[in-house]
Amino acid sequence: MRTHYCGLIDEALVGQTVTLCGWVNTLRLQSHVAFVDLRDHEGIAQVVVERENAAAFAVAGEIGNEYCLRVTGTIRKRLSVNDKLRTGTVELLADTVEILNAAKDLPFALHENPNEDMRMTYRYLDLRRPEMQKMMRTRIKLVQSLRRYLDARGFQDIETPILTKATPEGARDYLVPSRVHPGQFYALPQSPQLFKQILMMAGFDRYYQIARCFRDEDLRADRQPEFTQLDLEFAFVEEKDVQDFVEQLIRHVFKEVQGVELDATFPRMTWAEAMRRFGSDKPDLRIALELVDVANALKQVEFKVFAEPANDPAGRIAALRLPDGASLSRKDIDLLTEYVAKYGAKGLAWIKVEDLAKGRDGINSPVAKFLDDAALDAVLKATGAQSGDIVFVGAGKWKTVTDFMGALRLKLGKDRGLVENSWKPLWVTDFPMFEYDEEEKRFVALHHPFTAPKVDDVDDLRANAANAVSRGYDMVLNGNEIGGGSIRIHRPEMQSTVFDLLGIGPEEAEAKFGFLLKALKFGAPPHGGLAFGIDRIAALMAGTESIRDVIAFPKTTSAQDLMTDAPSPVADGQLKELHVKVAVEPKSA
Ligand code: AMO
Ligand code: AMP
Repeated sequence: MRTHYCGLIDEALVGQTVTLCGWVNTLRLQSHVAFVDLRDHEGIAQVVVERENAAAFAVAGEIGNEYCLRVTGTIRKRLSVNDKLRTGTVELLADTVEILNAAKDLPFALHENPNEDMRMTYRYLDLRRPEMQKMMRTRIKLVQSLRRYLDARGFQDIETPILTKATPEGARDYLVPSRVHPGQFYALPQSPQLFKQILMMAGFDRYYQIARCFRDEDLRADRQPEFTQLDLEFAFVEEKDVQDFVEQLIRHVFKEVQGVELDATFPRMTWAEAMRRFGSDKPDLRIALELVDVANALKQVEFKVFAEPANDPAGRIAALRLPDGASLSRKDIDLLTEYVAKYGAKGLAWIKVEDLAKGRDGINSPVAKFLDDAALDAVLKATGAQSGDIVFVGAGKWKTVTDFMGALRLKLGKDRGLVENSWKPLWVTDFPMFEYDEEEKRFVALHHPFTAPKVDDVDDLRANAANAVSRGYDMVLNGNEIGGGSIRIHRPEMQSTVFDLLGIGPEEAEAKFGFLLKALKFGAPPHGGLAFGIDRIAALMAGTESIRDVIAFPKTTSAQDLMTDAPSPVADGQLKELHVKVAVEPKSA
């Protein structure tokens, strides 16, 4: 149909007859001549239709934006070069213009920023936009680069089932009713976790898969109900083996896809240090601000808001110094206080240091009057506050304070332009094995229940479960958790013990994970691995905040596909066949 791509014509073709196909990007119709910017996936070419060519000119009069055209003509040099276009030195003088398909009544203009619902409903139009094409291509290049690297190093790409049994990764399952087995359900995999472990037990040594995962959880900019992992597993490894390998993998793809050189080795930080210094298990190291614990300085003060958490082992008081922050207005501070309230903060104390040399007289703070000189001085010293700074202080339960002060740190970093323009990867290690769930009144796994504890002995684990540290690790890049993995439990008695500590009794363990416990009994090798969030890495590379921009057909925040209108009610006959009764009136569209 065509001889060349619009976006690739150049001066070497001057004088030649070519045929281009594409969409009308813009159209300027004048009395003597029509200019059509014709767009395909390589870019844009200017097509000129002169009035002397009556047939072609008549067609030009009929077309509009996004019409699909085929144009044949001669390439010539342009009189006025357009530096903004790759093809800006040449144009196509049309002989014939053929409308391949019309595009009437467009729901939105592609050049304008359409709203999210429009974009999702007319995703094919949205994806035609050059910026979307570019972001999707970044993802494609990323996946190609990952595959090439792994294929060249002996990794075996093995598919695992989509219709399967629940594998817990902390989210709800998507279920599929079985027609053949009435009342029984498959679960869509939250990850291929157990299958990849079993592949190691089956002797495949090194596995990878670009795997679709399904999790029914609350959606955010960096979460989709179905998303893609680069899933990896290695037999006979320890943490360092996995980490060193995948570090090189990530360095390689950033070099190949982005031309970016990441650090030769990524810094490693324990979970405890990350929470203490940054209030997050995925610290954004591009922001230089840090939390400082000041409870020790506040144990004796009268002010209950501080004294209580200062003397409570489960409490925390964290201070955060914002250089040059004394200029913040009351309104600014009120907004920040409202912001941290969303993370559970009951208040936000602050100390403006107007003149450090003047001692108490140089301080502006609603809480200073509650603090004696020693306490005030200690807080300022601990944070290194200087004249012109503000120090925020958060007090309360350890988790709440850590969360809201971590969120405050990020917000101040972003609002005040303190985010360095760089790539800051790191490993977060030494996660707690378990987290106590106040609602469920039991331990839950911080990674997943197949992650090995640092201690080898089941009795040691039982003796100190609340403080047990796992062999899990996350890779974090610029404040995003881009990958997570662990060394796995490879002995059945340890796996049973962990299930037990998680409140999964022997019967439930047998019903849910009997196959795993059995497989562990037949010479399972030590093994470990990791999974990267491909959507998240692609979004970072593409420079977009939302992973939706690097997923061709994503879901909305209410887990809908507006283009196909999924989910949607199904016919009664189909439900009957599946032995499913619907307990609510389905919403009509
Ligand atoms: P985890 O649950 O940490 O580990 O997932 C691995 C990585 O997948 C990405 N990710 C997501 N991306 C988009 N939308 C989501 N809803 C979503 N959830 C997770 C993140 C995350 O780091 N089986 C283990 C891996 C292992 O232990 O080897 C697992 O799934 O980038
Ligand atoms: P109140 O005693 O509630 O009037 O609070 C006095 C000051 O302490 C105000 O500036 C509050 O913002 C601050 N404050 C209250 N609760 C906390 C908290 N949990 N952490 C830090 N500051 C707080």
